Amino acid sequence: MGFKKDFIWGAASAAYQVEGAAFDDGKGLNIWDAFTHEKGKIYDDHNGDIACDQYHRLEEDLNIMSELGLQSYRFSVSWARILPDGTGKVNEKGVEFYNKLINGLTERNIKPCMTLYHWDLPYALHLKGGWLNDESPVWFGEYARVIKERFGDRVHDFITFNEPQVFVGCGYFEGVHAPGYKLSKAELLHIGHNVLKAHGTAVKELRKGHECRIGITGASCPAIPASESNEDIEAAKKCYYESDYDAFVFSDAYWFDPIFKGKYPDWVYRFEEVNKPVITDEDLMLINQPIDFLGLNIYNGKYVDSKKGILKNPQGFPRTAIGWPITPEALYWGPRYMYERYGKPIIITENGMACHDAVSVDGKVHDENRIDYLRRYLREYKRAADDGIELNGYYVWSLTDNFEWGHGYNQRFGLTYIDYDTQKRTIKDSGMFIKEIIKFNGESL
Ligand code: GCO
Repeated sequence: MGFKKDFIWGAASAAYQVEGAAFDDGKGLNIWDAFTHEKGKIYDDHNGDIACDQYHRLEEDLNIMSELGLQSYRFSVSWARILPDGTGKVNEKGVEFYNKLINGLTERNIKPCMTLYHWDLPYALHLKGGWLNDESPVWFGEYARVIKERFGDRVHDFITFNEPQVFVGCGYFEGVHAPGYKLSKAELLHIGHNVLKAHGTAVKELRKGHECRIGITGASCPAIPASESNEDIEAAKKCYYESDYDAFVFSDAYWFDPIFKGKYPDWVYRFEEVNKPVITDEDLMLINQPIDFLGLNIYNGKYVDSKKGILKNPQGFPRTAIGWPITPEALYWGPRYMYERYGKPIIITENGMACHDAVSVDGKVHDENRIDYLRRYLREYKRAADDGIELNGYYVWSLTDNFEWGHGYNQRFGLTYIDYDTQKRTIKDSGMFIKEIIKFNGESL
C-alpha cells in the first residue's frame, strides 16, 4: 500500500534557528534574543544573531529546497519581526521578508507550511507576564489575524504551536530554555490553559477567509511495546498517555486531550493540592474546535513491557550525537497510538538525527549514519501507512544545520551542512538520499 499519492514530503526549520538578522529592519526582540545573551545559558554562549543568515540568503536556501525536490517547506514566523511589540503596529519589512519566502516557494512549486509559534515570544509581551497573563490568548489571536490577512491567500497549511511540551517544559518548568523560569505547578497549569486558549483563538482567526488546513505540533516520545503481544501493546498505549505528576507539561495527553476531546485527561483533575486555573465550558469549547491534523515531532521512543514497565536501554544502545536513543519503531507506534486516540490524520512535522558531520577531503559530507537512521525510521512510518493509519506527510528536521537551542551550533541536524564562518552550504549525502525517497514517494525505502 505505502504512502498515499498526495502524501507531502518536506523539510522543516524555525525562525530563531535559521533566520539571523536579529536586529535588522525593525524586528522587535524576543525571549530567545534576550536569553542567548545571558552568560552561561547556551553552549559556549552561542546565539542566533546571525544563525544561518537565511534572512539574507533566501534565494540560495530556496534553490537548495528545489535541488532536494521538496514538496513543502515547514518554517515558522518570528512574531516580533511582524509585530515588534507583539501587538499593534505591523512591521512592513518583516511582512516583506515572509512574502519573499512564500512567493519563492510558490514559484518553485513548494507548499509553504507555516508555524505561528516556534518559541520566540516577543520580549515586550514577556515583560507583561507572557503566557501567565490572561490577555495572552487575545494577543496571539491578533497575531494570527495579521498572519491570515497578510499571507492567507498563498499559505494553506498552518500550525499554531510547535511543541508546547518543550517550550513550557524547558522554558518555564526546567528553566533551561528561554525565558529560563522554574515555575510552580499552579503557574504551569495556568500557562498551559492560556496557551491552549491561544491555540483556539488562533484557529478561529485562521478559519476566516481563504480555506486552509490547521494543525498543532507536539513533541512526542512514543511508548513502544517491548513485544507485539497484546499485553505489551496495551501497556505501552496506557503508558504513552499517562504522565509523571511533576513533569506533566511534557505529556502529550495534557495538551492534546483538551484540543481533540474537549477535556483535560482525568489525572489533571486529580492534582488536588494545586490551585487550578478556572476552566470554564466556554474555554473548553474554544480549545476543542475542529482542526485538520495532528503534527508530531518524533525523534525517539521508550520501550514498555507489561510486567516490567519502562525498560532501561541496554548498555551500548545506539545513540545519536546529541545522545538520543535510536528507536525506529517510534515512527510506527507514535502515529498509530495517536491516530487511535484522536482519529486525526498524522503528519510527522519533524524527525531527524544529530551527527558529527564534517566536510571530507572530497568536499562532500558523507553522513551514512543519518541515511541509515532516516531509512529505518521511514520504513516504520511506511508500515503505519500499510496498516491503514492516515498519514498526510513527513518533514525532515532540518533543511540546514542550525542553532540547536541550548546546544548552540554544537549539534548538526541538517540535510545541508553549514560552515558558520563563511555561511557556505553543502548538501549532505542524506540530502540526496531524501531526494530519491521523495521522487519515488517512499517506494525505494
Ligand atoms: C524541537 C524543535 C526543533 C529542534 C529539533 C531538534 O523539537 O526541539 O522543534 O526546533 O531543533 O527538534 O532538537
